[in-house]
Amino acid sequence: MNKSHINSKFIIGNWKMNGSLKENFIFLSKLKNINSNKYHQMGICVPFPYLFQANELLNGSKILWGAQDISSYDKGAYTGQVSAFMIKDFNCKLVIIGHSERRLFQHENESIIFKKIVISLNNSLIPIVCFGETLNIRNNGNTLAYIDKQLKKVFKLNKDLLSRVIFAYEPLWAIGSGYSATQEQIYEVHNHVKKRLYNLGVTSTCILYGGSVNSKNSSYLLNISGVDGVLIGGASLLIDEFLKISIIS
Ligand code: PGA
Repeated sequence: MNKSHINSKFIIGNWKMNGSLKENFIFLSKLKNINSNKYHQMGICVPFPYLFQANELLNGSKILWGAQDISSYDKGAYTGQVSAFMIKDFNCKLVIIGHSERRLFQHENESIIFKKIVISLNNSLIPIVCFGETLNIRNNGNTLAYIDKQLKKVFKLNKDLLSRVIFAYEPLWAIGSGYSATQEQIYEVHNHVKKRLYNLGVTSTCILYGGSVNSKNSSYLLNISGVDGVLIGGASLLIDEFLKISIIS
């Protein structure tokens, strides 16, 4: 996975179901006008209706943008769904796949998630594939086994396709809770997944950490070995907070 400059990490915002034309305009205009050499590689995943606006305002900048989901189908009679092809029309590069909120509220399972990953890769999108354990699973000592199960299908992709995937480790108990995972916990999981990928012949890997990332803990989290960036929910809604996290220190 290529980043635009050396030492750069990926700082990706997931706005979830937040935003308005007015608020987004202020955020995206400010983002467009920063000196991108001073910042890590930034990206923003916005709700579908705002892809047009993101494309209009960020086009020509080094900021990446994308969606938070796509359909597992190419096209056709799937009321309410949005295809990979459609988001490409708005010059998206990124798409979040398998976020825990979709697994929970939309009942997405591994085979749907796998189809979405394949469709995004076929359309030259970068899938940001989310995985992570519940508190119960962690407390029972089953974290790594659970993650292996979650990623089993994904690891069947060939190594060239796997090297185009961004993974995002997001323990469910850390999302929106104010409690990020610890250095040991993050290192263990990232190292485990990286090893699995290396064993499959993938030499270029990218794994983000997500879960209560903010400007106070971001430099600590970004300095953990094996962390190639962060996926940010709540703290990505405020431009100043997002920029503080993204600046190269
Ligand atoms: P959070 O969300 O930063 O608000 O914890 C992270 C995510 O769900 O991607």
